[in-house]
Amino acid sequence: MKSLILVTGGTGYIGSHTAVELIENGFDTVIIDNLCNSKPEVLDGIESITGVKPYFENFDLCDLDRLRQFCKKYKSIKAIIHFAALKAVGESVEIPLDYYHNNFESLINLLRVMGEFDIPNMVFSSSCTVYGQPDKLPVTEDSPVKKASSPYGNTKQISEEIIQDVIAANPKIKAISLRYFNPIGAHPSAKIGELPLGVPLNLVPYLTQTVIGIRPELRVFGNDYDTPDGTGIRDYIYVVDLAKAHVIAVKRLLEEKNKNPYEVFNLGTGRGYSVFEIIRTFEKATGEKVKYKIYPRRPGDIAAVYADTSLANRELGWKAETSLEQTLLTAWNWEKAIRNKK
Ligand code: NAD
Ligand code: WQD
Repeated sequence: MKSLILVTGGTGYIGSHTAVELIENGFDTVIIDNLCNSKPEVLDGIESITGVKPYFENFDLCDLDRLRQFCKKYKSIKAIIHFAALKAVGESVEIPLDYYHNNFESLINLLRVMGEFDIPNMVFSSSCTVYGQPDKLPVTEDSPVKKASSPYGNTKQISEEIIQDVIAANPKIKAISLRYFNPIGAHPSAKIGELPLGVPLNLVPYLTQTVIGIRPELRVFGNDYDTPDGTGIRDYIYVVDLAKAHVIAVKRLLEEKNKNPYEVFNLGTGRGYSVFEIIRTFEKATGEKVKYKIYPRRPGDIAAVYADTSLANRELGWKAETSLEQTLLTAWNWEKAIRNKK
């Protein structure tokens, strides 16, 4: 019998790619999403890639009664992958209570039903944002968690603590937190990808929207950082590689191969690229020209961060496999697909 995995936020960017990988690895999936940052058509994309439409329930995880009803309906959930969250750093500074309410309430409700309905395993979406500007690069999982620079970042730090407290109180529950660096790209089929609502905040969707003509130019935020070419350095990880790590993490929990009831892994490539390197690699991969202009630094940005991924390599047997060039090509193909300019 197939194991049933609950994917919260499964119509979102990383959740949808993970649902595809789960289905392709023989799991049954059920998605909960309230569509506050995604569209139901994503389910068609998942079906058209895998031939399977995941079960889907549209409701807000902050509604505990509704979540309990859900658990009565889907009795045999073996693990939860918890993606659902609000994630815009700048917005979280403007409406912190909405972020604290949504990201904590949904997590607390899930942890509650895990106890009530004997769901033993959770994989939690954490972020490299918990490290702030690290003192040493690359960043290992032991690097200190710095005071969060935004309410969003704070929700990730405190969520990790909440999960650990619940595990300490209930030995039946196990969890893995995955700290993602900068996820980019889209499924190679161009049937699912990132769908930023409004003006994108992240580099790659802004870049692809510029090249397709929606934005006049890419704004490069600062060329005076203490980095080789002066622009910011990040660890850009292909979303499909990232999705695959979730399948491995779920299997590790189901097969009880975890070494501790709570584990943390960095998920990145282990290599940092500057904004100029992203522009050049995109141009090489696609043959398109990127129009850009240097702007002042963006407030709150750090100079450089990239992951030490040796723990995930060793313990999960996982490694990012896709080149930056291939990854940026998928981002471009997705941009063209959603603008019907294929
Ligand atoms: P996303 O916004 O595309 O997906 C999140 C999904 O959760 C959306 O479909 C949204 O509708 C849903 N959702 C939010 N609150 C909900 C609620 N209360 N009830 C039900 N559904 C709800 O985001 P993503 O980029 O796929 O990110 C997934 C997770 O990974 C998030 O927890 C995010 O913080 C984390 N993360 C993302 C990045 C990144 O750069 N994308 C980096 C590090 C960590
Ligand atoms: C990357 C680089 C910018 C846009 C964010 C969150 C982080 C995590 C991942 C969730 C930086 C530069 C960007 C643009 C630019 N998310 N840039 N022009 O800020 O590293 O991380 O997403 O957990 O918490 O903060 O990603 O893609 O915004 O920026 O020059 O239009 O590109 O300055 O050097 P960031 P990003």
